[in-house]
Amino acid sequence: MDTDARQPIMVDSGKRGRVAKIPRHIAIIMDGNGRWARQRGLDRAEGHRAGVKALKPIVKECAALGVEVLTVYAFSTENWSRPQIEVNALWNLLVEFLRLETPELKAERVRIQTIGNVGALPARAQKAIETAKRDTAEQTRMVLNLALNYGGRDELVRAVNRWLDEYRPVSPERYVTASAIAEHLDTAGLPDPDLLIRSSGELRISNFLLWQLAYAEIYVTNTLWPDFNPMELHKAIRAYQERDRRFGGLRE
Ligand code: FPP
Repeated sequence: MDTDARQPIMVDSGKRGRVAKIPRHIAIIMDGNGRWARQRGLDRAEGHRAGVKALKPIVKECAALGVEVLTVYAFSTENWSRPQIEVNALWNLLVEFLRLETPELKAERVRIQTIGNVGALPARAQKAIETAKRDTAEQTRMVLNLALNYGGRDELVRAVNRWLDEYRPVSPERYVTASAIAEHLDTAGLPDPDLLIRSSGELRISNFLLWQLAYAEIYVTNTLWPDFNPMELHKAIRAYQERDRRFGGLRE
């Protein structure tokens, strides 16, 4: 891979405690599939197909670098408003991706998880997800976390309702706390993202991981998602490695 390109990255074989800091959790907004397709006179669905193709090398590279969690925004709660034909194409691509790639992801010791309201997905998608989760449940090298029918606001509402369910009837002296919310989010048990990557240039969070991104470093590239490759990933990680993370204090 690009061994110099202005240094760091320098991963060693151990998990943590390596020479340069690799983000534990990377979150990606995979934007720009539609524009990529339009530039080529193709259907939007072809852009999404190219987007799925771009994902696999990124997953493998993250695992190789020692990233612990990779969360990708594959379908938002707002994406239902797209034409039915595009929505269907996205579910078909998800089913195909899981069917074709789960064996290799398993071999790479990647565990597949999801966040979002998966219960509202078409049955074929739910089935494919269940199978992929079951087949990779024992894997511990990296979590590939697919955000499907995911919205940060929706997740927060569901988290608070889950918490309320546990304490119903709510005793008057019971107040929700930050840790109670975190423990009831879809991401419970996962570290917060250290680095958010957004492709295709938009400077927005788009309802992604609203709670969890509180202290994430944000990296935006103009590259459209289908053109995003491991070299681009390295650029993003290098930018992250140059940041001074203070978490609201004075030094990390
Ligand atoms: C944004 O591009 C992308 C999406 C709404 C879907 C992202 C999905 C994939 C990369 C493929 C599906 C993933 C899996 C795991 C099957 P856009 O359509 O908004 O692009 P535009 O802004 O250029 O129109």
